[in-house]
Amino acid sequence: MSDQTTPSEPAWKTQYPIRQTAEHKTSRRGFTKLIGASLLAAAGGYLIKDKLFTHPISGPKTVVAKVGELEVGASKLFKYPETQPCILIRLAENEYVAYSQACTHLMCPVHYDGAKQQIVCPCHSGYFDAKTGAVLAGPPPRPLPRYKVTVEGEQIIVG
Ligand code: FES
Repeated sequence: MSDQTTPSEPAWKTQYPIRQTAEHKTSRRGFTKLIGASLLAAAGGYLIKDKLFTHPISGPKTVVAKVGELEVGASKLFKYPETQPCILIRLAENEYVAYSQACTHLMCPVHYDGAKQQIVCPCHSGYFDAKTGAVLAGPPPRPLPRYKVTVEGEQIIVG
């Protein structure tokens, strides 16, 4: 607090010394600079977010299930490489897909709706195609990151 406040003058006037008349003297150039800087910051943030979240996390080959463990139309949650929550889906007799379980909108965990063959995010009604991970509806901006799945003998392997 400043010692310069008088009893009749509120403290905020000395702490925020911009007069109301000066507040409205924003120049066109200053306003344009502010908008330009905001747009650059938003574009930079979007690019960084895009780089971080669209590329699958690489890691070693990991056995995540055994053949026959999942019925056709069923799903299983697993962690890959060790900590990231993922979802394995058996779409058909010999067709498996695996995705990150984190929604590309605000990272809510998604789940598989076997009846509709869609991956659903319940937070804001986001829907993804279970075959491709593409966004079908809702606010998610990008497809779900997909992981390579191979079947070797009796093992289902991601990586
Ligand atoms: S977090 Fe998935 S739709 Fe919003």
